[in-house]
Amino acid sequence: MDVVRSDERGMIPSACGEELVRTHTCGELRPEHAGARVILMGWVHRRRDLGPLTFLDLRDRYGITQIVCDEQRAPEAHAVAKHVRSEYVIAVIGTVVRRAPETVNPKIATGEIEVVAERVIVLNPAKTPPFPVEDERGSPPSEEVRLKYRYLDLRRPRLQRNLILRHRAALAVRRYFDRHGFLEIETPMLIKSTPEGARDFIVPSRLHPGKFYALPQSPQLFKQLLMVAGFDRYFQIVRCFRDEDLRADRQPEFTQIDVEMSFATPEMIFALIEPLIEELCLLVGREIVRPFPRLPFAEAIERYGTDKPDLRFGMELVDVSSWLRDVEFAPYRRALDGGGVIKGIAVRGGAKYSRKRLDELTDIARRAGLSGLTWVKLGEGEATSALALGPARLEALARAVGAERGDLVLIAAGPRTVVNQALGLLRVEIARREGWADGTEFRFVWITDFPMFEWDPDEHRWSAVHHPFTSPRDEDVDRLEADPASVRAKAYDLVLNGVEIGGGSIRIHRRDVQQRVFRVIGLGEEEARQKFGFLLDAFEYGAPPHGGIALGFDRLIMLLAGETSIREVIAFPKTASATDLMLDSPSEVSPAQLEELGLTIISRRGE
Ligand code: AMO
Repeated sequence: MDVVRSDERGMIPSACGEELVRTHTCGELRPEHAGARVILMGWVHRRRDLGPLTFLDLRDRYGITQIVCDEQRAPEAHAVAKHVRSEYVIAVIGTVVRRAPETVNPKIATGEIEVVAERVIVLNPAKTPPFPVEDERGSPPSEEVRLKYRYLDLRRPRLQRNLILRHRAALAVRRYFDRHGFLEIETPMLIKSTPEGARDFIVPSRLHPGKFYALPQSPQLFKQLLMVAGFDRYFQIVRCFRDEDLRADRQPEFTQIDVEMSFATPEMIFALIEPLIEELCLLVGREIVRPFPRLPFAEAIERYGTDKPDLRFGMELVDVSSWLRDVEFAPYRRALDGGGVIKGIAVRGGAKYSRKRLDELTDIARRAGLSGLTWVKLGEGEATSALALGPARLEALARAVGAERGDLVLIAAGPRTVVNQALGLLRVEIARREGWADGTEFRFVWITDFPMFEWDPDEHRWSAVHHPFTSPRDEDVDRLEADPASVRAKAYDLVLNGVEIGGGSIRIHRRDVQQRVFRVIGLGEEEARQKFGFLLDAFEYGAPPHGGIALGFDRLIMLLAGETSIREVIAFPKTASATDLMLDSPSEVSPAQLEELGLTIISRRGE
């Protein structure tokens, strides 16, 4: 099988390359292939020289196969193998042999065989990579280097696993919705900027100089219009764009599993999404408990200090205002006299926390807006605290918060929102440090009964908590104008381990209600007509009641893969400052391009 000619360094003239055909992948060969003559192609993962024998670990995305080059039996192959380096792309022609029992490698699927090389051909040499692709141990390369050389980073097994999982999940999603009668329908990427669109990415139009498209933050209005069009069950795995400040679980472009359904109730949406999530969890071998618990928004805030509660650990917030009402302690007095609250959390095993540790927790509380933090330790002896209460009362107080012997109670006083938020943060931070947030445990929860509006102190107006197309609860519609704060929305979020993985609602489908909601958020009649006239018009041509949800696909895959950043499950992500280090974007464009678009740059921030 002399199909390729090569020079003495094992290099083949590229014109001959097409005749060499790979017969197997590097993850495929098993003892039953013993005796077969094979051609493998892949990357040199590792090379070991043992005198007359050189071993190559040949890698592709399917696995690793050990290649043996014997100086005696195949001197040419051995000579080439001795010169190849990590990440060279090579072809190996050889025969599969069973390994002797003592040399079997149980850690890899091909560990019972090796390929004895007849020929080794270098298809392309490689420079020394800026970080070792072959070794996941040791200190990881910096994110900057990883993203600049993303094509090398993506060779690492961890990222390959993640992207394969992502592919399988996308397939499972499509199959699931197809089985349930949903149609995947594409919606446009070049749309129109909206008033809620402060975070829109805009795209200048060449054909209409001075005018702009916007990239969709989500296909929200299109999916609603598809319901008006009668498609009644829609889904789409869709790219969304948001120009917002980034965090580990946010990217400027990200992917949603977007869903909409006519004649839907929240229960129907929950019943549709939960089995889908169950299927996705099974992809990583995880069985989950259904139905997911539901928690009204107000209760989530009171018990966990957040609408994204992590239910993997307890430490619930307990109101102890009545216990401390008569205690002469200035911060408590101030809080209660000002209409605030005093709440506590019990930290398991926290009685042993050092002064330093408590100071660190106090710093976190201060950064969250509290003036300080008090504590009660329920150690071996009497309960201790800086609070001037007798030990018996201290112990009763600590037990009321849920503490047992060996525990610590942290107490915060102040305005209700500040106390909730600060204790919510402390709860998560303590669990993180203690290792209670076990990545292998999945705790889902639906958050329901969101308020419809929140007051925006910067803009001096009400804004929609979800989006202004969310329906108010029927019993609250009458209070839309008179008491917006009391109006609840038919909205829900899906939270997994403290991460919001989805959000949705039943929508408004009547023009009059939509116009009233626009008015509450300060959108005048004229502006509303100009921006959303098409939607208001559509509502007058037989819009069915409808509702839906969008799941954050990247976040979901991140959690399934056991990662803590969505960058680990996106092939080519942006950095935390929204740049692409490989492409070096965003970038300037030529004066000619600007001219054609009718644009002039008048200032660049930072210059
Ligand atoms: P929402 O804005 O809540 O709802 O988005 C839905 C889900 O998308 C994910 N997500 C993100 N993921 C990564 N990076 C981001 N920047 C980012 N922003 C959001 C979150 C979130 O829960 N149209 C509505 C849905 C609806 O009402 O049906 C919407 O977009 O997991």
